[in-house]
Amino acid sequence: MRIAVYPGSFDPMTKGHLDIIERGSKMFDKLVVAILVNSSKTPCFTTLERMEMIEESVKHLENVQVEHFEGLLVHYMEKNNYKYVLRGLRALADFENEFQMASMNKKLYPEIEVVILMTNIKYSFISSTLIREIIKFGGDLKDMVPELVYKKINQKYGRVNDEDNSAVK
Ligand code: PNS
Repeated sequence: MRIAVYPGSFDPMTKGHLDIIERGSKMFDKLVVAILVNSSKTPCFTTLERMEMIEESVKHLENVQVEHFEGLLVHYMEKNNYKYVLRGLRALADFENEFQMASMNKKLYPEIEVVILMTNIKYSFISSTLIREIIKFGGDLKDMVPELVYKKINQKYGRVNDEDNSAVK
């Protein structure tokens, strides 16, 4: 069985992520969306919130499951006997980072293969970093994040430009 891992921070998940998941799920028998739990950062959404948002947004895809991991990706993959990493590439600017990460991961765990999908041009300008900035200043994210994520953002950060948004970094 060919299982791929799509790792990321997903803080929050965007339509670009969802597009990669939908396409990746057709290429592999199973796709595991793996959320990085980074205890040294204060995320916009907790791991549990991110898990729920992704699970809900991918529930139409039978072979996709959501997990989380801490520490090195390769350790998590080795422990679970996962061999394929799936990543999306938006632009030339992403290439250097992805190339470096893929090469380092391959050096640490030679059995893995990193599969890169070109991001759909419709979503090529979207990043979670920009999304967090837009949340912070109360901009409209319609069409950039999945429906449920849009609702959650409005529930959690609906009041704009006040101290409630101070958790958004
Ligand atoms: O959503 P992102 O920030 O693009 O995802 C980056 C991620 C989570 C894939 C990467 O930072 C990662 O794998 N972190 C886990 C720690 C690790 O393995 N670091 C070495 C990577 S070469």
